[in-house]
Amino acid sequence: MKPLIDKHGREHTYLRLSITDKCNLNCSYCNPKNSKTWEKSKEILSYEEITYIANIFLACFGFKKIRLTGGEPFVRKDVDRLIESLAALKAKNAFELCATTNGIMTKGFLKHFRNIGLDRINFSLDSLCKETYSKICGKNALSDVLDSIDEAILAGFQNVKINVVAMRSVNSDEILDFVNFAIQKNICVRFIEYMPFSNNGYDKNLFLPIQEIQTIIHEKYSLDAIEDSRSVAMNYRIRGHLAQVGFISSMTNHFCKGCSRLRLSSSGILKLCLFSKNSDDLDLLSLVRQNATENQIAERIREFVLNKKQSRAEMEEIIKLKNNKMISIGG
Ligand code: 5AD
Repeated sequence: MKPLIDKHGREHTYLRLSITDKCNLNCSYCNPKNSKTWEKSKEILSYEEITYIANIFLACFGFKKIRLTGGEPFVRKDVDRLIESLAALKAKNAFELCATTNGIMTKGFLKHFRNIGLDRINFSLDSLCKETYSKICGKNALSDVLDSIDEAILAGFQNVKINVVAMRSVNSDEILDFVNFAIQKNICVRFIEYMPFSNNGYDKNLFLPIQEIQTIIHEKYSLDAIEDSRSVAMNYRIRGHLAQVGFISSMTNHFCKGCSRLRLSSSGILKLCLFSKNSDDLDLLSLVRQNATENQIAERIREFVLNKKQSRAEMEEIIKLKNNKMISIGG
């Protein structure tokens, strides 16, 4: 085992696995209706191939965390089979198995997922108001998501997190409602700055900087910083409560310096950054299907990561990126 370090000295320990680019929602900021997000069905990694690749990251590079994302990861058929086979890898190399979900398909299964080895779960939830939720996500499903969150807490998932993409005049009037929700449930709510991606019809008028969100919260609550060098979010405990608030300022203050992540798409493409060009990606699906050995794949990954850029491009460049779809990369 030799850590995976790039030429800027960053150690990589966290793999985000997008296991499908399909989603059961049409959130306005990610997969808006009528956008040409869907591509013709591509070859995707099988569960066996995903497990094979995940094991390389764990055994050769000592990765500490794997997160299943999508699209919506729980729309992929028999996802339990993948959770079980990834969880079995913990016997040889300890790591945390996590997932990010919109919480619709998970309803009724949280205890089961916990039992078969899922360690952590984050929910994407952008409104606590039924109408606004439907408007943003294109489906009247708020109550299912809320049920899933309650089930996750009951099932004993630690540090359940809610991701809120904050958008001016869409859900900006709900900032304090979300903080109260976190307090009520003893969980963590994280506000994410709205980012541009291909086909998300980015409307910069909706952009709401983290600083404004903090000002709103500070009028009512005191926040105490929590040190966590592994996190991209600035996390705070709400004074007098167990609940936490996090801020992900991808746009106004990027956190490339502490980046420890790599992203693998469902079609087997390894990305160094949420905003890297497609021409910079590494095609692991082809390598696996050419029967490359574990060592050969590990060496290709090592060379690839070595040359990771110091920081992401500027926003003007990012907005112009082609084929940079959140729904395939998974956040
Ligand atoms: N801007 C900010 N966050 C986004 N997400 C998806 N699309 C965007 C966007 N355009 C969030 C999802 C999910 C997380 C992984 O990324 O809400 O919770």
